Amino acid sequence: MAAEAPTIPLLTPYKLGKFNLSHRVVLAPLTRQRSYGNVPQPHAILYYSQRTSKGGLLITEATGVSNTAQGYPDTPGIWTKEQVEAWKPIVDAVHAKGGVFFCQIWHTGRVSNQGFQPNGQAPFSSSDRPLTPQDRASGFNVSDFTPPRRLRIEEIPQIVNDFRLAARNAIEAGFDGVEIHGAHGYLIDQFMKDQVNDRTDQYGGSLENRCRFALEIVEAISNEIGADRVGIRLSPFANYMESGDSNPDSLGLYMAESLNKYEILYCHMVEPRMKTVGEKSESPHSLVPMRKAFKGSFLVAGGYDREDGNKAIAKNRADLVVFGRLFLANPDLPKRFKLNAPLNKYNRDTFYTSDPVLGYSDYPLLVDIA
Ligand SMILES: Cc1cc2nc3c(=O)[nH]c(=O)nc-3n(C[C@H](O)[C@H](O)[C@H](O)COP(=O)(O)O)c2cc1C
Repeated sequence: MAAEAPTIPLLTPYKLGKFNLSHRVVLAPLTRQRSYGNVPQPHAILYYSQRTSKGGLLITEATGVSNTAQGYPDTPGIWTKEQVEAWKPIVDAVHAKGGVFFCQIWHTGRVSNQGFQPNGQAPFSSSDRPLTPQDRASGFNVSDFTPPRRLRIEEIPQIVNDFRLAARNAIEAGFDGVEIHGAHGYLIDQFMKDQVNDRTDQYGGSLENRCRFALEIVEAISNEIGADRVGIRLSPFANYMESGDSNPDSLGLYMAESLNKYEILYCHMVEPRMKTVGEKSESPHSLVPMRKAFKGSFLVAGGYDREDGNKAIAKNRADLVVFGRLFLANPDLPKRFKLNAPLNKYNRDTFYTSDPVLGYSDYPLLVDIA
């Protein structure tokens, strides 16, 4: 029999607040567009449980907080009773295998069109700056975005409240916590980034003002479900959906420092090398200042593999490493890392297709190919 592979940094235990993780390989939030009519489906039970290991952390695909939150077909929501009920067996299956499961909650803001909105209304954003119609290179369906309507200041508390209720619903569905999606050019990012936010009220202009919306959501959710169940994802360096910032280092640092006040569980940051959707490029920037500033647990994502992830843990640049495409294609990724086994290749063509099996739950496990 072959000797057990030596323990590697990614496979050492970590105490994430009250959750005892047995390793540091986290499933990234991955939109798969197989939640027909915005309702999670039974096929997600198999998909998520395949990716569960005892003491492993999983983050769901981005999940809508309200009926104005959607921008893509068949993404799940968590604002109706039906959706909450539909999540329950999925969460139960992950728990049955000993996983820790967080629900990523989002609002797409202007990355939408009126076809996704109630009564065919325009989507809203921090601003009325429209997005350029684009062939979504990431593989999302080609779509024209409807120019957004600028949220009136008196409407903002309602949106914060939608996030609060969605977090409450996530706990009701059985999730261990929520991850606020503050990354990748969606609504929260549309407030933070100065390429989009051109407001002149207290939600625009200074860094403090642009981050106000995000921090109000953090505060509302922390008060609702407890800060020890709250994480946030941020991508200060990314310019997805035309939402770049003129000073991402300051933005990232300001958020890392401000989050300390709420004592949330974790801050999850996307590496500067993932500036453009799906592409890895060299960057002179680094997350290290934010890692040093933030007092809770620090998660990093973007372009990681086994070697690079081990380095990040060994050098204390992160507490946990989040894997997207590798985990999508390798349901037993922690085990493969342990054995240093070969990896399945991911197939981009089926990232966002609606088949309940193909490219979803049919990536082979090691036992299948042994
Ligand atoms: C198919 C697919 C869907 C994604 N969906 C989401 C999502 O719902 N929420 C999110 O924050 N990031 C999403 N991302 C970004 C990933 O979470 C991750 O940050 C990115 O893939 C880079 O990490 P990787 O190099 O390990 O894949 C998605 C990426 C892919 C490939």
